[in-house]
Amino acid sequence: MAWTKVMPANPVVAVAGATGAVGREMLKCLEALNFPASEVRVLASARSAGQKLPFAGCGQVPAGELTVEEMTEESFKGVDIALFSAGASISKKFRQACYDAGAVMIDNSSAFRVEKDVPLVVPEVNAADIAWHNGVIANPNCTTIQMVVALEPLRALGHIDRIIVSSYQSASGAGAKGMAELEDQTGKYLAGEPFEPSAFAHQIAFNCIPHIDVFVDGDYLNDVPEGYTKEEWKMVVETKKIFGDNTVEVAPTCVRVPVLRCHSESINVEFDRPVNIEDVKNALANGTHVVLEDDPANNVYPMPGLHRGAFDTFVGRVRRDHTVADNRGVAMWVVADQLLRGAALNAVYIAQALLPEA
Ligand code: A2P
Repeated sequence: MAWTKVMPANPVVAVAGATGAVGREMLKCLEALNFPASEVRVLASARSAGQKLPFAGCGQVPAGELTVEEMTEESFKGVDIALFSAGASISKKFRQACYDAGAVMIDNSSAFRVEKDVPLVVPEVNAADIAWHNGVIANPNCTTIQMVVALEPLRALGHIDRIIVSSYQSASGAGAKGMAELEDQTGKYLAGEPFEPSAFAHQIAFNCIPHIDVFVDGDYLNDVPEGYTKEEWKMVVETKKIFGDNTVEVAPTCVRVPVLRCHSESINVEFDRPVNIEDVKNALANGTHVVLEDDPANNVYPMPGLHRGAFDTFVGRVRRDHTVADNRGVAMWVVADQLLRGAALNAVYIAQALLPEA
């Protein structure tokens, strides 16, 4: 059945998982974009019920405190937009309740991303896909989002045939516990004290771990070649779905690095035709929510330690990939705050795109 409910100009918004790392950022994005909500409900587990979350206000919601309510099936009655970031199992559990309540679920988990009738949306790239949602819109994985935001302006220059990407992913990708482990371990390492890794499979302080999420056993998606992790294969499948292009080939390697927040990516792109590097830089400089930060002579390029809290995606080190024939190859370095751009902010941009035109 097609979704027919009309979105009001001042929707009731629920943040499901509001006490979590991404949920808190969702509230900040609603504030920063002054989202025209008539009400904001904050939902979490029974453990957090009654907790007060400071809120600077947005739309018709005044500044003050929001009181966390336990998430139940009743919580979505009267809700128009439900921003979910409480884990895949919680999203699955409450999908029907949202549907029955007429609330559009914008889901940050991987629960529904590959379902055929669920659009996977990065508004700068495929906002048009929102039109065919049937109650659920999925937010892509953080590593995919910043890559497609950076690549979208280049798609006007030629067809992207192939992408080789290596990610340098921060500890916050593993949540607040990941950041705490990096800080704690760094102190212990420097003090010569013993420590036991728990948030990561190995020591994260002064180390890099080429392993994020599980090595895919074939359950997640069909036809996964041996040796890839789920995080890597998400980049392959999600990029094709967001671009609406099954022919784009993606070869990812995802690596956890001892950075607190912001993911970086080294990306090599192969086009179907020659591209001019100045045209590439111009396209990036004019890209939506993309900032070209590229002046190597003056040591200017994006760095994850400097972009915490930023809404934009930063691109630098733009140069020819000399190993690709006929000037068809481009190499670049991309940095974004993955909790914002790669999660909370993308979800709120989707919510904005659901609003009726003024
Ligand atoms: P709570 O803080 O009450 O546990 P993170 O990804 O940072 O771990 O955050 C997960 C979010 O999902 C938190 O807001 C958390 O609430 C919420 N959550 C976890 N389990 C449940 C549950 N069973 N029901 C509702 N919310 C949950």
